[in-house]
Amino acid sequence: KQALTLPRLKAMKNNNKPIAMVTAYDYPSAMLAEEAGVDMILVGDSLGNVVLGYDTTVPVKLEDMIYHTRAVVRGAPGTMIVADMPFATYRLGPADTLRNAARLMQDGGAHAVKLEGGAELADEIRLLTQAGIPVLGHIGLTPQSVHQIGGYKVQGKSSAEAEKMLQDAKTLEQAGAFGIVLELVTEELAAAVSRSLSVPTIGIGAGRGCDGQVLVFHDLLRYGSGIRDKRFVKSYANIGDTIRDAIAEYVNDVKSKAFPEEKHGFPLQDSNNASQAM
Ligand code: KIV
Ligand code: NA
Repeated sequence: KQALTLPRLKAMKNNNKPIAMVTAYDYPSAMLAEEAGVDMILVGDSLGNVVLGYDTTVPVKLEDMIYHTRAVVRGAPGTMIVADMPFATYRLGPADTLRNAARLMQDGGAHAVKLEGGAELADEIRLLTQAGIPVLGHIGLTPQSVHQIGGYKVQGKSSAEAEKMLQDAKTLEQAGAFGIVLELVTEELAAAVSRSLSVPTIGIGAGRGCDGQVLVFHDLLRYGSGIRDKRFVKSYANIGDTIRDAIAEYVNDVKSKAFPEEKHGFPLQDSNNASQAM
């Protein structure tokens, strides 16, 4: 399989072909996402919440992102992989921004990076794209600023907020972003932003008017304990319950001596040649 290219991504928008993106954080999840036919994989810093057990994405380090991106790239060698630049890795000056983004590509193997923010990031995005680093923008709710925003709230409800977001989107596109994630944005505004850009928008909690959609792997599959339903998520499986039930059955089998059975062992005299463990 040939990974999606940026020109083909833009053609998908022009041809009104929706773009399907999902997050992944490790080798098996990436492999399954590629086998399922996703257009792009995001190694999101939602890693912090869903894999590492933090309350927010703020504690996620560049090294965490590189480590997990490498595993995702190994699992999905035929898929375009975007890696999030984590908190405070792209706002401390141009040299630092360029070095950190380059590490996600050179050491992590990502094809592109994503950073959260509006027009204030125009210089950074210009710098990265001119250096050959494709950048995906991310506006609306930006979880790295959750302590400033004061919660995970829908963005762009007032006309002033909406006008600013539209301007931010246009500025990011002009600076060279190849696409823009719209997170928790009203459906009307997300549709208006999508119409006003020539690059695709990828929505999460942003309604039907975006050019593509992204969901967090663990939300889509309910992979975790007590994943609560979010209105903007559709869960297609309940892997958390499946895993817990399976492990509970295993624990029960060990305690009741139902596992292992004779066939799982390696007798010294074995006509079946079952000492071949694999
Ligand atoms: O980290 C992440 O998973 C994201 C998506 C929600 C867009 O940034
Ligand atoms: Na993110």
